[in-house]
Amino acid sequence: MNAIEVRGLIKRFDGFTAVDGISFDVKEGEVFGLLGPNGSGKTTTIRMLVGLSRPTEGGAKILGFDLSSGITEAKRKIGVVPDSSNLYDELSARENLLFMAKLYGVPKDLREERAEELLKAFGLYQRRYDRFGTFSRGMKRALTIAAALVHDPKVLFLDEPTVGLDVVAARSLRNLISDLHRKGLTIILTTHYLEEADHLCDRIAILVKGEVVAVDTPQGLKRYADERSVIEVSFGREVAGLVGDLSARLPGAEVVFLDEARMTVRGGDPSRVLEGIFEFSKDHDLGLSAINSIRPSLEDAFVRITGLSPTVMAREKGGKGG
Ligand SMILES: Nc1ncnc2c1ncn2[C@@H]1O[C@H](COP(=O)(O)OP(=O)(O)O)[C@@H](O)[C@H]1O
Ligand SMILES: [Mg+2]
Repeated sequence: MNAIEVRGLIKRFDGFTAVDGISFDVKEGEVFGLLGPNGSGKTTTIRMLVGLSRPTEGGAKILGFDLSSGITEAKRKIGVVPDSSNLYDELSARENLLFMAKLYGVPKDLREERAEELLKAFGLYQRRYDRFGTFSRGMKRALTIAAALVHDPKVLFLDEPTVGLDVVAARSLRNLISDLHRKGLTIILTTHYLEEADHLCDRIAILVKGEVVAVDTPQGLKRYADERSVIEVSFGREVAGLVGDLSARLPGAEVVFLDEARMTVRGGDPSRVLEGIFEFSKDHDLGLSAINSIRPSLEDAFVRITGLSPTVMAREKGGKGG
């Protein structure tokens, strides 16, 4: 079953079209990624889907409830983690959760238990009486996710969950998201990190300038990348002078030197290429030191699909130039 169905969703601000007629489905229990550079319309899309912004045109169903007829019903079953935290610096971690539980209409006698359970699950129990304002960025993000789960929603929206976190905090948050996925939660997350989308998402919609240009599994997207096999070879010594002889042994393949002793071989029949490399190495007594087949990355696919350089993804919000 589909948890979310998006059909021809459009958002215009004055004359500017931020979201330009996007359509996709999110299946129950999957982690669905909206992947795109800054300014591509990810936050605008999320805001419409959670009822914070009204679509200019088009519509969506969230857990069977139509967006246009108001999503009061659906709101009880969704959790939202905005791109900046909605919690209170002056309140403790525990107080923040109790407050959010009240706001979401969790019955009074259940709030305490629910808050405790989440604090433990998110590794914040030791710090439950500390003010939110004193937390590290990673802990803040974790508590903001916990707060979005107080009412035990079926669908969780995460807008750029790891932006601004250091490597360790980002990794721990990704593990946390994977745990929620394993527990059966449907998750829609936005990101401009290719690797994050690759690791976390069952399926990914690539968003460019408000349009969905591809929707597929990470594996499926990678098929758009250069489908020729790529083999990286390192020899024990310099081979640049022997390139003519090497190429002659690898029909249909393209050899590119990375340095004097290292190269990539693209295309050709993989088994013939391997045979050619082994014989070449033996005949010239080169000492083959490493041979690896390289799988296409989501980055390769992204470049093929969008025609954009992957550096557009590195541009952080508000960054000058890039
Ligand atoms: N309230 C608004 N008024 C005018 N333009 C907006 C508004 N919100 C977003 N935009 C514009 O819409 C585009 C998409 O923004 P956004 O959805 O925040 O992108 P993303 O989350 O992918 O970085 C951007 O060009 C942004 O400047
Ligand atoms: Mg955004």
